[in-house]
Amino acid sequence: MHPQVHPSPRHLMPITERPADIFVRGEGAWLWDAAGRRYLDWLQGWAVNALGHCPPVLAQALQAQAGLLLTPSPALHNLPSLQLAQRLCALSGLHQAWFGSTGAEANEGAIKLARKWGRRASRARRAGAWKIISFENGFHGRNLATMAASGKPGWDQLFPPQMPGFAKARLNDLASVEALVDADTVAVMLEPVQGEAGVRPATPAFLQQLRALCDERDLLLIFDEVQTGCGRLGELFAFQQVGVRPDIVTLGKGLGGGVPISAVLAAEHAAVFEPGDQGGTYSGNPLMAAASLAVLEVIAQPAFLANVRERGAQLQQGLQALSARSGLGEVRGAGLLWALELGQDRAPALVQAAREAGLLVNAARPHCLRFMPRLNSTAQEIDQGLAILGQVLAADAVALH
Ligand SMILES: Cc1ncc(COP(=O)(O)O)c(C=O)c1O
Repeated sequence: MHPQVHPSPRHLMPITERPADIFVRGEGAWLWDAAGRRYLDWLQGWAVNALGHCPPVLAQALQAQAGLLLTPSPALHNLPSLQLAQRLCALSGLHQAWFGSTGAEANEGAIKLARKWGRRASRARRAGAWKIISFENGFHGRNLATMAASGKPGWDQLFPPQMPGFAKARLNDLASVEALVDADTVAVMLEPVQGEAGVRPATPAFLQQLRALCDERDLLLIFDEVQTGCGRLGELFAFQQVGVRPDIVTLGKGLGGGVPISAVLAAEHAAVFEPGDQGGTYSGNPLMAAASLAVLEVIAQPAFLANVRERGAQLQQGLQALSARSGLGEVRGAGLLWALELGQDRAPALVQAAREAGLLVNAARPHCLRFMPRLNSTAQEIDQGLAILGQVLAADAVALH
């Protein structure tokens, strides 16, 4: 493509720093820019493209549904959304689903559901409770409610006044949660692994303690599995890995494998929405639901999830070797969600150097790189990415000395 035909970015609101390259095509693990350069993609749409770019199974599902029915209206039933709700409930052991388009929308739905549950007249304790305990450095989305629920440093100063009712506890510190429970508390909400914070896992023991605390104090436990769900950690849902049953789970990202669909799943006692409580023009539209059914069909297979764990172990070992060789820090994660601590604020520079070397990675924090390859990665792709990363880290070490 000739550079002159590229439209200028000045008509696009500059909501984030982006490299100048324009990306025009994706296939599996690979992305191509307009200049024809090929990149091994370990962003995958921010842990969205579970099966890589443009998987045929997804393209076919979209094509078939696009010729049948797009959006009948959220006030009419359609087959794919009924099938998807049934499938997700069977896979998760939860009772009911509501569908949105983004992770933030699902989390806002979960917050509404918890507040509704807290207002039930039948509640013996804490009738009218509405506050939710969330966590420092947590990330739940960018609408006003989920920004307030997030513990991202500095976000409490953006777009004031902040929505009230989201006191922040510290991850893996039960006492910090207990200290915040008051008469108005209705739920505890967290990511089983804090993704945007730099892949910081809640320990299984902490999640089990939270479950016990919620049972004891009559609180709902909400897991935001927008990033950790849908196979990313090597099980379909992170809560299955730690043996803790949340009352409400939110999903997004990988649920559509590259197209916008998200979900709130609730256990029977927490599924208290009634007509008029929640909605959205595109809620449960059959195009996205059909896409999600096709993706789920693949990622729910035990052999598929076993591959996520195997490739994850390969990536972990490779990152640990690179860390040891280059004198870097901790390697954290599970499945195909990993972070490498650098020990200094080199992540943005390394992201750029990696891109120039043909590998797309993310600086989750200035001192931390994050890796989110497609879940059907091959052993060869993992080796290829590690090799590029190794070269980039070695060149960086030379440049710094
Ligand atoms: C754990 C978690 N929750 C919610 C969100 C927000 O999802 P979305 O950007 O689709 O609104 C994200 C996005 O990164 C996330 O990682």
